[in-house]
Amino acid sequence: MRLIQLTDPHLSSLESVSFLSVQGKQKSGYLSWYTKRRYIHRPEILERLTQAVHDESPDQILLTGDLVHIGLEDEIIEAARWLRRLGAPEQVMLIPGNHDNYAPDSLAAMNRHWGDYLPAQDAGSSDYTAAYPVVRTTGGLRLIGVSTACVTRIFSAEGELGKAQLARLRDALIGPVSGPSGASPKRSEFTCLLIHHPPLPGMTKQRKALRDAADLQLVIEEQRPDLVLYGHIHCNRERQHREVHTFCTASASSVNNASYRVFDVEKTDDGWHCRMRLMSLDNHDGAGASFKPAGELSWIRTW
Ligand SMILES: [Fe+2]
Ligand SMILES: [Fe+2]
Repeated sequence: MRLIQLTDPHLSSLESVSFLSVQGKQKSGYLSWYTKRRYIHRPEILERLTQAVHDESPDQILLTGDLVHIGLEDEIIEAARWLRRLGAPEQVMLIPGNHDNYAPDSLAAMNRHWGDYLPAQDAGSSDYTAAYPVVRTTGGLRLIGVSTACVTRIFSAEGELGKAQLARLRDALIGPVSGPSGASPKRSEFTCLLIHHPPLPGMTKQRKALRDAADLQLVIEEQRPDLVLYGHIHCNRERQHREVHTFCTASASSVNNASYRVFDVEKTDDGWHCRMRLMSLDNHDGAGASFKPAGELSWIRTW
């Protein structure tokens, strides 16, 4: 099975949006786009990365949020066009980021335009966690996505799972177990958790952190998913926490370090073999941009 993670494409343009037409926190997000983000997140880079991802022939594309900047419906429509080119809903597993659910009306817009790619949600519900975690099983792999994309106050990029979603996540991580009688049961599936915010305490500054990271850490330590993939902080990071491998991938559209990660996961007699390959921008020559291997890691999870 080949999984590819990409994240934080921030692909929308606010070129046709007037600063005066946006409200509240969206004004600060607009200024951030105008002064900085529009120069960093480039559509031509994302286009090349999208082609490179297709050339890798992934079985599943794991997209860990922040498709847009300030959660406007027009941005969400623009992102929907790219999503359909990226892959069909059965091939793309999407979880939202804080820039997607940026304003009180963003969640409904996402459900209207990304509905095929998101778990079904009650119309009119403002609970961004109600439909999560979402679980997809394929080829012995168990892919679990959560939503941490709460609407926050101005200048905050925090996230939160909430107690109810966290309890459901724990159950989802347990999954089917197997093992010889008398031995302690072991999970037979290879389990991968997708989350937008950094999952463990201390991985980023308070203003950008997951509020309940300490609670999630307990669940991760107890249930030990094989992989935890996240985004949000726009850099490439790898960290092993006990036997759990955590990876953050840089923004898919960044002129500085656009990246994606390839995970080849295979079941053998002695356990699950996983090989990770990081692919990063080789040059940022616009339409001529290309990607080259920037890191590799292999490990086995024995039975
Ligand atoms: Fe982001
Ligand atoms: Fe984010």
